[in-house]
Amino acid sequence: MEVIILKDYEQMSQKVAARFKKMILHKPEAVLGLATGGTPRRFYEMLCDFHVKENLDFAKVKVFNLDEYLGLSAEHPASYAYYMQENLFSQVNLHKDQCFIPNGMTNDVAKECQDYEALIKEHGPVDLQVLGIGRDGHIGFNEPVSSLSSRTRIKTLTEQTRQDNAKYFSSSEQIPLHVITMGIATILQAQEIILMASGQEKAQAIAKAVEGPLTAMVPASVLQTHQRAKVIIDESAASQLTNKDYYQWVYENKPNWQKKEFL
Ligand code: F6R
Repeated sequence: MEVIILKDYEQMSQKVAARFKKMILHKPEAVLGLATGGTPRRFYEMLCDFHVKENLDFAKVKVFNLDEYLGLSAEHPASYAYYMQENLFSQVNLHKDQCFIPNGMTNDVAKECQDYEALIKEHGPVDLQVLGIGRDGHIGFNEPVSSLSSRTRIKTLTEQTRQDNAKYFSSSEQIPLHVITMGIATILQAQEIILMASGQEKAQAIAKAVEGPLTAMVPASVLQTHQRAKVIIDESAASQLTNKDYYQWVYENKPNWQKKEFL
């Protein structure tokens, strides 16, 4: 695992956007794994800017989103389908039939999950996956004690996660209890994973995920087992890391060839 600590949210977003741009330039038919939520908003703005100002071409790119609320249609402003439409899909030249998100309105959850796994198998593996992290250490919506071998399935949100997302709903009763999420084993199949986090409220989850034991209590700690996982965070999110100075030292002293490889 590589830990990259940058000054603030803007720099962190720039770094991740630059990595995605490089991936798309290098592999125009790349399969991207995408997250929603507050953290990647600026990153999406930057990707849209690359498209508008530098003609970054998404025509052959495929996209798999991590998760969706059960019971919300793509027209609901708090759904993740709506979020993706607003923040990325409507602004770049991605083909609609190459953008995949679990269907929150399905009548058959088990089949929807199986079909989603089959689609990832058919088009995948995901070349580059971006993740956020919950305050309880969740990735996707794999809440604490999710099986580390899990595949796409239904999960029940914790009350903390529901309250963290309450700002996107007009009342707390409207926040769904259930979601469909890629499983932890599904996420780990990605060739490369970048976990982003910003702000003090994520500092404890980041410290546990990076330096704590590998445990289903902190689903993000599973990234310790991935061969190409990068944790790209701002200084506030890094504030509880014991080995912070060492990560910065490693980053500053990367050999030139390795620096180029990343960007
Ligand atoms: C969203 C997702 C979640 C979020 C996490 C952090 O697709 O998979 O794991 O990344 O809840 O959300 P924010 O960025 O809003 O703090």
